Amino acid sequence: MPKSSHFNESPPTPGKFKMEKSSYAHRLRSRSSIGKIVLWSLLALGLILLVFMRSQSLRQPGFNPTGHYFSSSYKWGGSSWEKQVRSSAKVGSRNGMTVLVTGAAGFVGIHASSALKRRGDGVVGLDNFNNYYDPSLKRARQALLEKAGVFIVEGDINDEALLRKLFELVPFTHVMHLAAQAGVRYAMENPSSYVHSNIAGFVSLLEVCKSVNPQPSIVWASSSSVYGLNSKVPFSEKDRTDQPASLYAATKKAGEEIAHTYNHIYGLSLTGLRFFTVYGPWGRPDMAYFFFTRDILKGKAIPIFEGANHGTVARDFTFIDDIVRGCLASLDTSEKSTGSGGKKKGPAQLRVYNLGNTSPVPVGDLVSILERLLKVKANRKIMTLPRNGDVQFTHANISLAHKELGYMPTTDLQTGLKKFVSWYLRFYASGKKSGS
Ligand SMILES: NC(=O)c1ccc[n+]([C@@H]2O[C@H](COP(=O)([O-])OP(=O)(O)OC[C@H]3O[C@@H](n4cnc5c(N)ncnc54)[C@H](O)[C@@H]3O)[C@@H](O)[C@H]2O)c1
Repeated sequence: MPKSSHFNESPPTPGKFKMEKSSYAHRLRSRSSIGKIVLWSLLALGLILLVFMRSQSLRQPGFNPTGHYFSSSYKWGGSSWEKQVRSSAKVGSRNGMTVLVTGAAGFVGIHASSALKRRGDGVVGLDNFNNYYDPSLKRARQALLEKAGVFIVEGDINDEALLRKLFELVPFTHVMHLAAQAGVRYAMENPSSYVHSNIAGFVSLLEVCKSVNPQPSIVWASSSSVYGLNSKVPFSEKDRTDQPASLYAATKKAGEEIAHTYNHIYGLSLTGLRFFTVYGPWGRPDMAYFFFTRDILKGKAIPIFEGANHGTVARDFTFIDDIVRGCLASLDTSEKSTGSGGKKKGPAQLRVYNLGNTSPVPVGDLVSILERLLKVKANRKIMTLPRNGDVQFTHANISLAHKELGYMPTTDLQTGLKKFVSWYLRFYASGKKSGS
């Protein structure tokens, strides 16, 4: 065995190693090695901290996977930002309104904002661009709105300081509140994100709206999901809504009760719209018609759910343009809020409407239409509807919206899907985007 290897070995047991004349030097050596260990530990700790902080800053703005948002990641304020807000809010027609659209980078948000802008209303968007689904789709919608002259403020509806600043800059006459954590199944994965956006965020928005002067009128998105396990069809606004089948539905139902409270105490004019499965160009990738299209094109199997005893699963699919007409009609028929200085001065308007298509279509038929439009046969996988929040059937009674808003949907599923598919193929044509 080579000598050097023997010298480099540690003593077999500490007791057998004698410190003799060299003990002082040894103490010095061991002190310096402790010092080295401490130094290296500190360096390692610093490195871990650095990596951790960097990974936090690389996350989507304002959102982390635990469902908590951090407002510090949004940059707002400053004179050029204020200029953008003011210019976006400029009214382009006589009697035009100034509308704050929350969730403007979302699916309904982009369509509602551009329709308002087109007819001459002043529009300012607000969105936190969270990563519930591909944020690049939200950025593409933002770019389109920017071209139309609509500025989207990046921020969270829970940021009351930001909301107050916006009202300080622009005396909004109306709020079109669309920001929410949508999706039924994701509620089992990230329940706190629903509480954060749909309950806490709504309260934060109403707190600001009730205290500004003049108070705006508010139209906001509830959902057909509030009908939950209700089995009486078609669903009418008078039907019971106390059996939500998902946390999403429960938070929308809570929103309706919260709206009642703010109307009752502070005189805010509030209109809740129960949308029924909205679809169309610039849609949401987490919705069946969207990911069915993607998966049919990829040759992937698509799950077709059926209820108990092979019961048909059907949806009252409603085309986006019809929904937008309902939103605009709600804004136009909104009465003024009656409060001022945070106090109610008289009774104020409180409304809830179904916005659906009144013709439920079995999900299997939706797939057949997509097959024809895409000219690709789908690989259907029939499965039992899991109990994770989806209901078997939705069907809207829209007579109240028809009577009071003049709402009348005009687009059947075949026509609407044709428009969606042609958008989808154009948008994802480059092959760079995946549709996920
Ligand atoms: N699309 C439908 O079929 C449907 C059906 C019923 C109800 N709704 C409701 O309509 C509204 C719009 O839905 P959508 O399909 O456009 O959804 P979407 O997810 O595309 O749009 C919502 C937008 O709100 C933003 N947002 C979420 N939380 C926020 C927060 N705390 N602060 C600021 N911005 C926030 C998101 O980034 C997103 O861009 C939602 O309230 C939804 O619950 C939609």
